[in-house]
Amino acid sequence: MPGLGSGSVEFISHNIDQTLRVGARLGQLLVGGDVICLAGNLGAGKTALTKGIAAGWGALEAVTSPTFTLIHEHRRARDKQVLYHVDCYRLHGTADAWGIGLEDLLHDDGIVVIEWPEHIQAALPEDHLWIRLDIMDETQRRMVFNATGERYTTLVEAFRQQVSGA
Ligand SMILES: Nc1ncnc2c1ncn2[C@@H]1O[C@H](COP(=O)(O)OP(=O)(O)OP(=O)(O)O)[C@@H](O)[C@H]1O
Ligand SMILES: [Mg+2]
Repeated sequence: MPGLGSGSVEFISHNIDQTLRVGARLGQLLVGGDVICLAGNLGAGKTALTKGIAAGWGALEAVTSPTFTLIHEHRRARDKQVLYHVDCYRLHGTADAWGIGLEDLLHDDGIVVIEWPEHIQAALPEDHLWIRLDIMDETQRRMVFNATGERYTTLVEAFRQQVSGA
């Protein structure tokens, strides 16, 4: 897996199964309080990647797109941790983000996965993992991971090792 230096990694997913696997690898590494931002156009694969993340984390139920309810809560059997899947497509700005209770989620000890984070950029915590998904063609997606802060740099390095050792 080619890297871009510490805290960044970039690769191509060739099909949806690969995206699910990548997500699962990442999901296994998450700890309470982690914030994962998934940016990219409609159909880029943000929800698909979230399905993988939730599966790897251990979610009891399948992930569906939270476009209409905005926030989905997932639970797992192992402990009381919650994974929040948030869709900000219909939001614009910090007031909207606070309006759906995002601030509380971000101060909770859960994991927060955010689609369309660019719509609420100013409401995001300074430290986070930003994943940019781009559509290359029908089945190929480029994914660029960028960590901000120590926790996420460590996370990206752990993820890089997991994937290259697979
Ligand atoms: N390599 C790939 N990775 C992920 N999805 C892929 C891939 N190749 C094809 N697809 C298809 O692209 C679509 C991705 O849809 P998904 O709902 O995950 O996108 P999204 O980024 O969440 O879009 P939205 O902004 O509408 O929420 C699915 O139909 C999926 O089957
Ligand atoms: Mg989606």
